[in-house]
Amino acid sequence: MTRTSVHLVNRPSGMVEPSDFEVREGDIPSPAEGEVLVKVSHISLDPAMRGWMNEGKSYIAPVGLGDVMRAGAVGEVLESGAAGFQKGDWVQGTLGVQTHALVKGNELTKVDTSSVPPERYLSALGMPGLTAYFGLLEVGALKEGETVVVSAASGAVGAIVCQIAKLKGARVVGLAGSEEKCAYLTDTLGIDAAINYKTENVTKAMAAACPKGVDVYFDNVGGEILEAAMSLLARHGRIVICGAISGYNDFGAIRGPRNYMNLLVQHGRMEGFVVFDYHDRYGEGVAQLAKWLSEGKIEAKEDVREGGVRRYVDTLNLLFSGENFGKLVLKA
Ligand SMILES: NC(=O)c1ccc[n+]([C@@H]2O[C@H](COP(=O)([O-])OP(=O)(O)OC[C@H]3O[C@@H](n4cnc5c(N)ncnc54)[C@H](OP(=O)(O)O)[C@@H]3O)[C@@H](O)[C@H]2O)c1
Repeated sequence: MTRTSVHLVNRPSGMVEPSDFEVREGDIPSPAEGEVLVKVSHISLDPAMRGWMNEGKSYIAPVGLGDVMRAGAVGEVLESGAAGFQKGDWVQGTLGVQTHALVKGNELTKVDTSSVPPERYLSALGMPGLTAYFGLLEVGALKEGETVVVSAASGAVGAIVCQIAKLKGARVVGLAGSEEKCAYLTDTLGIDAAINYKTENVTKAMAAACPKGVDVYFDNVGGEILEAAMSLLARHGRIVICGAISGYNDFGAIRGPRNYMNLLVQHGRMEGFVVFDYHDRYGEGVAQLAKWLSEGKIEAKEDVREGGVRRYVDTLNLLFSGENFGKLVLKA
């Protein structure tokens, strides 16, 4: 058996190309003291990965040229040199796009896969679930009876935001890029209205769906949808900047929202956040999400793709074409 790893060798400009990465084969390493050898099982594919490939200052250092591509993942311990871990344990951590990872024990978290599939720790019980939870309730400060608009609403973060907002007694309006995704939002998740932003006039449809204006806009996409939500902001409305996927591959001049003065007019607030801000409270978030899941109050949807780490680039790009439906995960 060998270890297969995917290394960033070129910083993409625009969409990621297979030539931006090199696949390497090597021996499987042995753990030194304090280290754990993990057989990677499921790899989280995230829009943020596109930003990690760029040079420059961000909330996290860029992946170095030649380095294994950074990725959150779950896997099974093959061999342990670290106290507290043994062969057969399931763990979660930043394992990278590779089949085997050598990681320090203190950088891993054990997960229980006896009643939950491993990939759930990359979706509702992992980073996207926590992003939705803290982003909506802490940054968005959602209150019962308010109107929430969510973009990329059927995705990993968006679908959890929609469901928490419903649980908290909000009117929820989601935007998604296909009829199938819109039907999932209204019929399965039970939100109040869904807008297909690819076929509808977004501003008109949003105005019709939000007769009292938008109290919280949970922004996953930026661009024109952000501008539409901003134009409909209610008094003391909040815009949560979670992401701006519409611009991640765009190296041209990205225009800011032209109507930002509406924040002044409506005494509004726009605030960005990174889920890591809430690291100290992950336990609380995961416990609440797990409770809602086990009670059937929210549901998780993962889109697990086969093909192994060699399929990394093609699978990642599904996020930008909207071909994923649910949390995108690659089986290592
Ligand atoms: N702040 C944080 O800590 C944090 C943490 C996690 C994620 N995020 C951000 O949250 C957002 C969602 O991430 P996710 O992991 O949940 O991904 P996701 O929603 O599961 O997948 C991305 C979706 O974005 C939509 N999309 C792609 N290009 C678009 C465009 N040009 N305009 C509008 N929609 C577009 C597509 O859905 P449609 O078919 O509906 O177009 C696609 O399925 C991203 O912006 C990500 O960077 C932020």
